[in-house]
Amino acid sequence: QPVQLWGGRFAGGPAEAMAKLSASTHFDWRLAPYDIAGSKAHARVLRSAGLLTEDELAAMLAALDQLAEDVASGAFTPTIADEDVHTALERGLLERAGTELGGKLRAGRSRNDQVATLFRMWLRDAARRVATGTLDVVDALVSQAKQHPGAVLPGRTHLQHAQPVLLAHHLLAHAHALLRDVSRLRDWDSRTAESPYGSGALAGSSLGLDPEAVAKELGFDASVENSIDGTASRDFAAEFAFALAMLGVNLSRIAEEVIIWNTAEFGYVTLDDAWATGSSIMPQKKNPDVAELTRGKSGRLIGNLTGLLATLKAMPLAYNRDLQEDKEPVFDSVEQLELLFPAIAGMLGTLTFHTDRLAELAPAGFTLATDIAEWLVRQGVPFRVAHEAAGECVRAAESRGVGLEDLTDEELEKISPALTPRVREVLTVEGSVASRDARGGTAPARVAEQLGRLEDRVARF
Ligand code: ARG
Repeated sequence: QPVQLWGGRFAGGPAEAMAKLSASTHFDWRLAPYDIAGSKAHARVLRSAGLLTEDELAAMLAALDQLAEDVASGAFTPTIADEDVHTALERGLLERAGTELGGKLRAGRSRNDQVATLFRMWLRDAARRVATGTLDVVDALVSQAKQHPGAVLPGRTHLQHAQPVLLAHHLLAHAHALLRDVSRLRDWDSRTAESPYGSGALAGSSLGLDPEAVAKELGFDASVENSIDGTASRDFAAEFAFALAMLGVNLSRIAEEVIIWNTAEFGYVTLDDAWATGSSIMPQKKNPDVAELTRGKSGRLIGNLTGLLATLKAMPLAYNRDLQEDKEPVFDSVEQLELLFPAIAGMLGTLTFHTDRLAELAPAGFTLATDIAEWLVRQGVPFRVAHEAAGECVRAAESRGVGLEDLTDEELEKISPALTPRVREVLTVEGSVASRDARGGTAPARVAEQLGRLEDRVARF
């Protein structure tokens, strides 16, 4: 029969529309295993405080274990009459432990401190799954970088050809951003590892219960310092939503490049059939839907963050029912990312890069002009003058429709007497790339070191 946690002062039950509005089991049921773990920890502190006998504790734990089993097997599920996961599990406990014993467990706790604790527990586990999925994407980038140690492409600024870079260097740039997302989740976890259990509705417990013992049992570093903060704060959820939105944005930047690279005009890559889709009308089409869904879902993740912030804005302390709206957006962000990770990793890991075309395009658009200017600087020419001279080289080559390396000795000499034929030693993509050999640069030796350090970091995560 239906259980209500607050019937005493009410003469009648809720209206149907009230109950429908109030219900949350369709999304908070996933907290059930955490709720039961919290209940077991709570039963133990009730025992320590002398509020349960040893026998009662044993019977309570056995009933809770049975309930956990029935939840896991699907034998016990919430009904439409259960307001939320906590109410449903209370019913499940009463059915298994009897109303006399089962009715003792709620002492000294409130759904307000419960839900704040369980939500943190769920998110902390989800953060580990998200980190693992992110590292799978990093692995795909690393594997492509390793397969193409010498490949070059035109590096771009403003989407225009800028300077040649190694493909591996470019791919690892994305990997670094993703590793920061993982370490952001680590930082977040250290702030979220505080348990609100024992805060009660808002004011704390009068029953001599030990919040630190509950915190330890549930895997937290400590219990919260302030029961009002413990029950009313959700910045942990907003920060988590931000970390996931940022991750989504970083993934969308990779996705956008794959979409561009896959066009006929760029022709940088071919998608593996397994990670592309066709068109229902145009037989020739092979579309980068994984990348497009990544780009699209990143918008959804931003929406989840801003929606949650809007819910929290100006909410007075302590608990308000608005806070029930805190869970769906972050659950959704996790769910979307879990759909994306294997697909993005699969798409990236199986991309075919057309390295001949990349190499041909690398010097196009006068991407070696900076190399002329820097060569002149090494000959003692002030950079302002060198920049002008290199610019004139571009103008001369452009007006004749040739590359910088095709300028004649006379043309070079006319632009600047310092421009001897020896400048040609930097007028190759290989020479240009190899010359950028300071830490962080695109020289093959530096990129190989960078790759080694990055792999070490991934292994230590
Ligand atoms: N289901 C609620 C939530 O997710 C917790 C219940 C608190 N209800 C209450 N009336 N204080 O926030």
